[in-house]
Amino acid sequence: MTAPAHIEIRGVTHAYRTESGPLPVLNDLNIFLPEGGFTAVVGPSGCGKSTLTRLIAGLMRPDSGTVWIGPDEIKAPRKTVGMAFQNPVLLEWRTILANVMLPLEIVAPGMARKDREARARELLAEVGLEGFEDKRPSELSGGMRQRASLCRALVHRPEVLILDEPFGALDAFTREDLWQTMHALRREEKFTCLLITHDLRESVFLADEIVVLSGRPAHAQYVMPSALPRDRTLDSLFTEQATEMLAVLRHQIEIAQGRSAPEEVPA
Ligand SMILES: Nc1ncnc2c1ncn2[C@@H]1O[C@H](COP(=O)(O)OP(=O)(O)OP(=O)(O)O)[C@@H](O)[C@H]1O
Ligand SMILES: [Mg+2]
Repeated sequence: MTAPAHIEIRGVTHAYRTESGPLPVLNDLNIFLPEGGFTAVVGPSGCGKSTLTRLIAGLMRPDSGTVWIGPDEIKAPRKTVGMAFQNPVLLEWRTILANVMLPLEIVAPGMARKDREARARELLAEVGLEGFEDKRPSELSGGMRQRASLCRALVHRPEVLILDEPFGALDAFTREDLWQTMHALRREEKFTCLLITHDLRESVFLADEIVVLSGRPAHAQYVMPSALPRDRTLDSLFTEQATEMLAVLRHQIEIAQGRSAPEEVPA
């Protein structure tokens, strides 16, 4: 159980070794995610976004450069990271409650069972899953499973929450519900969030700052602080500020994809 910490990606360069030779994925990547902030990372498919999440979680080491969480350089897998992915990997032989409690069994084995259970129930209530604690994952809808997966990622109060396209497989309405749940979680829980997404509206609705990665090998091509107030509703996406942000982001993605020249940036 920890307080949120900043994340710093400092000069990170990485290539995968493949049968046809090295595949450079990240090139001198620098990103700073402030403590308690919500940063979205967008970029062309295959540019290295999931690679970045693995480096932050300590599942891989970069060829050069460093990754920091708070005062610590990441050199090994880290317990104080919460992660959620496009497909929630819930264990079918456990109830929803038992799935959410799982990280506490690993990270806080000394915690009393009733305290673990209380913490898991508290989170499930925050995301609207009260009453579903005893169901199995297959008894829930996709959106509900993703809510449970967010609870599992947050149950041990991680320093950082890494979300790799968690809403990508959901239909548009369910996705928007989950966006609002994310805002609610942010009001109740303390974490530093990195959200990877393909959905520019999602990045604008959720993030304090949006980083556009270039094509592979990726560097931080463009950084956009949000022009929206912290308190947002779906209507915020139809304001002039949001429309302007979306237009600039779309253009930056075209540049990253090599479909538009950088000097054509709108004034
Ligand atoms: N373990 C690996 N070994 C070799 N190449 C890999 C490995 N993992 C990823 N790659 C390659 O590295 C590149 C970046 O992959 P990564 O998954 O980080 O991209 P991404 O930005 O998350 O893509 P997407 O938007 O499609 O999820 C891709 O070309 C991918 O094929
Ligand atoms: Mg990916």
